[in-house]
Amino acid sequence: MKVKTVSTKPIDGQKPGTSGLRARTKVFMGTNYLENFVQSVFNAIGGLAGKTLTLGGDGRYFNDAAIQTILKMAAANGAARVLVGRNGILSTPAASAVIRNRKTDGGIILSASHNPGGENGDFGVKYNIAAGGPAPESVTGEIHRRTLEIDSYRIAEAPDIDLAQLGETQTGDMTVEVIDPVEIYAGLMRSLFDFDALRALFASGFAMRFDAMHAVTGPYARAIIEGELGAPSETVVNAVPLPDFGGHHPDPNPVYAHALMEEMFSESAPDFGAASDGDGDRNMIVGRNCYVTPSDSLAVLAANAHLAPGYRQGLAGVARSMPTSRAADRVARKLGIGAYETPTGWKFFGNLLDAGMATLCGEESAGTGSDHVREKDGLWAVLLWLNILAVRRISVARIMAEHWAEYGRDYYSRHDYEGVDKQAAEQLMSDLRQRLSELPGKSFHDLTVTEADDFAYTDPVDGSRAEHQGIRIFFGETARAVFRLSGTGTVGATLRVYLERFEPDPERQNDEPQSALAPVIAAANEIAGIAERLGRDGPDVMT
Ligand code: G1P
Ligand code: ZN
Repeated sequence: MKVKTVSTKPIDGQKPGTSGLRARTKVFMGTNYLENFVQSVFNAIGGLAGKTLTLGGDGRYFNDAAIQTILKMAAANGAARVLVGRNGILSTPAASAVIRNRKTDGGIILSASHNPGGENGDFGVKYNIAAGGPAPESVTGEIHRRTLEIDSYRIAEAPDIDLAQLGETQTGDMTVEVIDPVEIYAGLMRSLFDFDALRALFASGFAMRFDAMHAVTGPYARAIIEGELGAPSETVVNAVPLPDFGGHHPDPNPVYAHALMEEMFSESAPDFGAASDGDGDRNMIVGRNCYVTPSDSLAVLAANAHLAPGYRQGLAGVARSMPTSRAADRVARKLGIGAYETPTGWKFFGNLLDAGMATLCGEESAGTGSDHVREKDGLWAVLLWLNILAVRRISVARIMAEHWAEYGRDYYSRHDYEGVDKQAAEQLMSDLRQRLSELPGKSFHDLTVTEADDFAYTDPVDGSRAEHQGIRIFFGETARAVFRLSGTGTVGATLRVYLERFEPDPERQNDEPQSALAPVIAAANEIAGIAERLGRDGPDVMT
């Protein structure tokens, strides 16, 4: 095998964000862009000599070419073995499962998650560590540092590898092992859930719709839900992954999964609906006439997880990202287990899971997961819900009503202002930061600020610190507004405003969230001066 050392120069903006490096696909396809970043990853982890890697992506445009490049670079950097999903496909949670099950030294996942794909869409690269989760800040910081000083990368001059055939091939001294993308993952699911009970549920006529959004989960959902659990063949729709996700935005929320929402709120709605995103780590749960917010879903799963075999012995603790509603904390309190509040991004859950402090984790952005892998896991969340429904045999709406009656309801919504002027958005945040100490005691639309801060987190396991993770404004014990800028966008800036209000009274738990939250929304808009500063009269997306 001939190895080429190619000279290169640092490229601006190769700083990993909330989850890896994201950029426009065309930027990734530009000269040395992918190569620089991948070599920087290898350099940051102390080289690749003798190591094993897991490699796969969500199948979006450029996935196949990028996989071939990375394989040649891994060979040139001395890797011993790379496990690749067939045709270069692995969902994010499946990649995490493979890293853990096959004990590889780490993994590279190609995805821009829920961002649109295609030649004019987005692409992304993420490095995961041996524990299976996203690299922690210490590693992503080192990767960034390496991108700033890179002067060459190594690549083998070798033919492309046929990734359609399972089995082993040699590239120089490196073995490429093409694996079935579903097998290890499905085995893990079988170990956690009562598949017999799920088969009985479907056999009883329980109807479900799973919208795979033409993204990576289609083959996984088909194999498990239709194949193993016996659901009828039209249960999984949009099941064939497409390089541009059919031109859609593969983000499972009521806005982008509106077809599923319409069906679930129609006369002929099935019992249960679900969707997942581009790379399969996000989920949306919706019952007949009943949308479940991700924050509520985490709380319901925490309260009911013991009904599934994998969690029968109870939970060690529940962790949520700071902007996620406090519904899960109420369950943790009742169960007498730990409740943790971390910055946004799955990487912050890794240590809590590794240390056995938390069993379930979740984010308001449709991410839920457990210690079975180190990523959020869309299909896992769906199967856990199904296991709970198979045991309780009541509707999703009934589960929610009973949950709120017991714990109270946390009305919740996130307002996104997308593609706004970056400077204006940064100015808005820094002005808010400046004013934090003057806010307590002031009233806005009948709500009085009792506390305001800029969220900082000290990891309880390794003591590492993350600052400026979002501005929290509390209106007493019950209402809260949070402001932060997205770290996953690729154009301009996105301001996220997270709004919540607690309602303990069952008689008042059936309002429409936007109206139930109206005072909090008005107060948040006024405090930050969103309309004047961003020139927008309302959010682009409300979830
Ligand atoms: C978004 C979500 C965040 C999630 C991340 C990756 O990041 O808000 O919860 O971890 O995508 O899926 P953001 O764009 O807000 O930085
Ligand atoms: Zn994702």
